[in-house]
Amino acid sequence: MLLNVGDYEREAERLLDPGAFGYFAGGAGDELTLRDNVEAFSRWQFRPRVLVDVGEVTTPTTVLGREISMPLLVAPTAFQRLAHPDGEVATARAAAEVGTVMCQSTLSSVTPAELAAAAPGTRLWFQLYWSSDRGFTADLLAGVAEAGFEAVVFTVDFPAAGRRERDLHAAFTLPEDLVTPNIPGSLRRRDFHTALGEIVDPTLTWRDLEWLREACPLPILLKGILSGEDALLAAEHGAAGVIVSNHGGRQLDGVAASLDTLPEVVEALGDRVEVLVDGGVRRGTDVLKALALGARAVLVGRPPVWGLAVGGQQGVREVLELLRAEIALGLTHLGCRSPAEVTRAQVKPK
Ligand SMILES: Cc1cc2nc3c(=O)[nH]c(=O)nc-3n(C[C@H](O)[C@H](O)[C@H](O)COP(=O)(O)O)c2cc1C
Repeated sequence: MLLNVGDYEREAERLLDPGAFGYFAGGAGDELTLRDNVEAFSRWQFRPRVLVDVGEVTTPTTVLGREISMPLLVAPTAFQRLAHPDGEVATARAAAEVGTVMCQSTLSSVTPAELAAAAPGTRLWFQLYWSSDRGFTADLLAGVAEAGFEAVVFTVDFPAAGRRERDLHAAFTLPEDLVTPNIPGSLRRRDFHTALGEIVDPTLTWRDLEWLREACPLPILLKGILSGEDALLAAEHGAAGVIVSNHGGRQLDGVAASLDTLPEVVEALGDRVEVLVDGGVRRGTDVLKALALGARAVLVGRPPVWGLAVGGQQGVREVLELLRAEIALGLTHLGCRSPAEVTRAQVKPK
């Protein structure tokens, strides 16, 4: 019986080809950060309040001024067709069924226009890897805005690909027929590891954000912020939000768990821009701890992928729904009627 995210992960491991499972599950280097992302949640404990009327508990919240059904969004993850033939389309449709946002990765098998057409009604954000081919990137962004996406998530922790040794040990390569229409054609034919290293222009700096803001009318979030200093720079350069993230432990191994970095970023920013966080969220109670430490919402990367591998669109929906049910039950036990009522007073360090 599949009751929680861990159950879906084990089932996905059983069903997937080992190389693909390793690609999804793995992290960089010794995977210290990968493990710590999950463990960080157990270093905080709840301080519930009792005898609060929790007869009616609701999970919706707002992100960038628009309502979603719960404080949890689908993070961008690449190559979803490795998990299921329906890939990104299944994930997007499931996100719509559950009423949350899906963030499409640049490394998808469909263009933004194709995804929007195949999953009408889905609230979509687009995650940008920004190659040195500016013309290509400008056209890509124009397509994103035209397809009705609500925001662009610019991933800033990827000046080069992390060294994922599980993939190297498994000699993992992408299947020949996996298309990647959102990266320049010159990179598509390269071998997997070389191409991954070249999808981003490593010379980008804060100044280039001006170009991005001109090329793209949508709100921009910066994903991969790991310090108060960079969070402030993001706000100063016009970002609508930041995502505290270490890329699920797949980039620089040895950085702090996302949850441990969240308070520093929240403190630096105050109310200036919205702060989201991802990395290691496996339970509704993890979401509540992140909210208590100042996040507006969280994103989940691997959990929907496990759902996708197990059951396509339905599997993703089940994973998102079980997380929403866990959030609702956690709120009830915590004595909070909605995500907005979760404050710093509801948690303490262990
Ligand atoms: C298989 C996989 C592929 C990913 N691909 C991308 C990507 O294309 N772009 C991006 O910004 N982040 C990518 N990420 C990072 C996620 O967006 C997110 O930061 C991370 O998965 C959160 O950690 P979690 O998996 O513990 O929830 C990927 C993560 C995984 C596991």
